[in-house]
Amino acid sequence: MATQFFTASSIDGFIADPEQSLSWLLSRDVDSAGPMGYDAFIAGVGALAMGATTYRWLLDHPEAVGEGWPYQQPAWVFTHGSLEAMGGDIRFTAAPVAEVHAEMAAAAGGLNVWVVGGGDLAGQFADAGLLDEVWVQYAPVALGAGFPLLPRRLELRLEDVARNRDFACARYSVVR
Ligand SMILES: NC(=O)c1ccc[n+]([C@@H]2O[C@H](COP(=O)([O-])OP(=O)(O)OC[C@H]3O[C@@H](n4cnc5c(N)ncnc54)[C@H](OP(=O)(O)O)[C@@H]3O)[C@@H](O)[C@H]2O)c1
Repeated sequence: MATQFFTASSIDGFIADPEQSLSWLLSRDVDSAGPMGYDAFIAGVGALAMGATTYRWLLDHPEAVGEGWPYQQPAWVFTHGSLEAMGGDIRFTAAPVAEVHAEMAAAAGGLNVWVVGGGDLAGQFADAGLLDEVWVQYAPVALGAGFPLLPRRLELRLEDVARNRDFACARYSVVR
């Protein structure tokens, strides 16, 4: 079981532009069944976590993710507020990440834990010593500003690289 931050990014390290548009990403060509693609990745995921902004984005963009909650796995959404439930297996939480991680690992049943984003939430898992891998799919674009990939000083080791159509994909392990 590994705890993984898997995300797409611009080459200058933003996972969303300042308007939270993902047009720079969704307009690119990718083979989800191809090298380091989403299909094989998600097949290994047993539980996932995300922050409130990412959750709201999913809620507001059915054209990008389809109608309804897109994940089969149990999900934890970090928020201090109250968010509209989307109808999946979702728990809203403001508990410490280590506590939530233990619940996620138990629910994952030996599969991996996916930190969907944003970058600071992935950083919180790293701060707690609980992040094992960072997978980044770099789109061929610089955004100049936006939501940061991983706003932390974090040492990584490059484990794997692949080209998937428009994307340069890299898998890193977190050096503890
Ligand atoms: N490129 C990609 O593949 C990709 C992947 C993921 C996300 N995204 C996008 O990137 C952007 C990320 O937004 P973001 O950086 O604002 O991150 P986020 O993690 O999605 O949301 C941040 C919010 O989560 C809540 N939160 C975070 N840590 C918490 C904790 N420990 N306890 C309780 N609540 C906590 C807080 O919400 P409250 O205000 O409720 O307290 C905080 O304001 C979004 O636009 C998303 O759609 C892109």
